[in-house]
Order: sequence, then structure tokens, then C-alpha cells
Amino acid sequence: MLANVTFSEKEISLIRNIMKDNVGIDLSDFKIPFISRRINARMQLKGVREGSEYARLLDEDPLEPLNLYNSLSINVTKCFRDPNVWETFRANILPSMIQKIGVNETIRVWSAGCATGQEPYSLAIMLNEAIGAKKIHFKITSTDMNRVSISIAETGKYDPKSLSNIPTELFPKYFQKLDDELYQVRDVIKQNVDFIVGDVSSVDIDSMDLIMCRNLLIYYSRDAQELLFKKFHKSLKQDGHLILGMDESMLGTIGTSLFLPLYPRERIYTKAKEDLS
Ligand SMILES: C[S@@+](CC[C@H](N)C(=O)[O-])C[C@H]1O[C@@H](n2cnc3c(N)ncnc32)[C@H](O)[C@@H]1O
Repeated sequence: MLANVTFSEKEISLIRNIMKDNVGIDLSDFKIPFISRRINARMQLKGVREGSEYARLLDEDPLEPLNLYNSLSINVTKCFRDPNVWETFRANILPSMIQKIGVNETIRVWSAGCATGQEPYSLAIMLNEAIGAKKIHFKITSTDMNRVSISIAETGKYDPKSLSNIPTELFPKYFQKLDDELYQVRDVIKQNVDFIVGDVSSVDIDSMDLIMCRNLLIYYSRDAQELLFKKFHKSLKQDGHLILGMDESMLGTIGTSLFLPLYPRERIYTKAKEDLS
């Protein structure tokens, strides 16, 4: 195991420039401590001891920029992650969301940074249960920058560990057992969930009733977060909702003027009326 390296500003800026000039990837939105940890992890794997040596590798090895970029995509997730957030949403937000939607209309949701898909499928199960026999539709657009995660999401195949929060009584209704280690989301749910590879900042999306962007913003600088809050504000309908991750909040950001906290502990917000964009 090699010792962790602390990078100088010059080394970080050299690495950012190589990524931008050679492969067109802009790392400037990410928090520096986060980038430093990921670069250290790549250096360990490659047996590289110094920042300048890693910068050379990045410049000369055509595969390394993509490996570094992919290492910035932390795809830890599971179904109904943070159950209290889901329960608060189900009990307090979902009923009025359904009540407001007209017959044959569609509830539209964006799962931004959906990783391998457990979040949008959880949402689809919850919506399907709450809508029941009512003549209402829903569509969940799920996006992530990581192509590999999206292809896993599209298969809808998961191991039992990532499904452990699914209520037992709902399991057979929504999952088909393939073998002891693998279950697949049934079509009744899959047909309402679309997956797209794309950066959260550039996906073109609007008129959403709900945006879930959980455990993505923590990796980004304050400036990048503020741009994303503006984008989310624009992408939501007037009375739409935003749900962030438990370690994310609006405090001290432009977000506080764009969103009102409904359930601050669960990071559930509603869009504020004025449009500052
Ligand atoms: C930790 S996972 C969160 C998954 C899920 N939302 C949850 O909370 O369980 C973060 C995901 O955000 C994605 N991500 C990070 N930055 C992104 C960006 N700029 N655009 C799109 N996806 C991004 C990563 O690829 C990763 O899959």
C-alpha cells in the first residue's frame, strides 16, 4: 500500500488541464478533496507515487482519463435507501401529488444520478402502490453520467442485498426470482422508467412534478451546486418537489431562495414561487 499523496494546486490544475485538453472532461466542478481521494485511489492501483508521475500517465495512457472519470462516479445505492425519507414522502407528499393530477394525466419524475437504478425503481413501486386503480400514469426519467451503471439499471437485475428494504408483501408483485442471488424488476414497473446516460447539468428536462437528486451534490463545489439548484428550479413545475440526500442541504446557497424546506430533516423541499433564472 502506497502512502496517500497531498497534491499541490499546481498538480491539481495540471491534471484538470490534461483531462480537459486531451479528453474534453471538465473536473473543475468537483470538490478538490474528493478529486484528490479518487486520484490517490487510481495512483494506488497503478503503483504511482507522485502527482507529477500520475499526470504523465494521464497524458500518455489513452485509457487512464476514462478510468479516472469513472472513478468519480460513486454508485453506492439500494432500494428505499434511508427508509424514513421514503416514508415521509409517501405519507405527506404523495397523496396531494396524486390528488392534483387529472384523469389520464402523468406524474413526471426525474431521478438525477440514479446510479444502477434502485432509486427510480423504488419510486416506481411506491407510485404504483399509491395510484392503485386510479386512471393516472407516471413516468420516471432516470439519468446518470456512468454508462456502465445505466446498463445495469436497464437490466433491472439485482442481488438480494440491494433489495433488503423492499416490503416482503410487495416482493413477488414487483420482482421475479431468477436464482438465489438474482432478482429482476417486473415489466409492470420497468415500462414506466426510462434511463439516459448524461451529465445532470446538460440533460434537457422540464415540467417535472418531482426531482430526486440524492447523494450526488456532495461531490460538487458550492458554485456547481448552485448552478444545479437553478437547473432543478427551472425543470420543476410550479408546485414541484425536490428531494436531496441526507448529507446534502440548501444552507448558505442560492438554493434557499429557490426552494422552501417542507421536511428539512428528510431534505424534502418545494419549489419557491419566484423564478430567478
Ligand atoms: C452515490 S450515487 C447515488 C445514487 C442514488 N441517487 C442514491 O442516492 O442511492 C451518485 C451517482 O451520481 C452520479 N453522478 C455524479 N455526478 C454526476 C453528474 N454530473 N451527472 C450525472 N450523474 C452524476 C454517479 O455516477 C453516481 O451513480
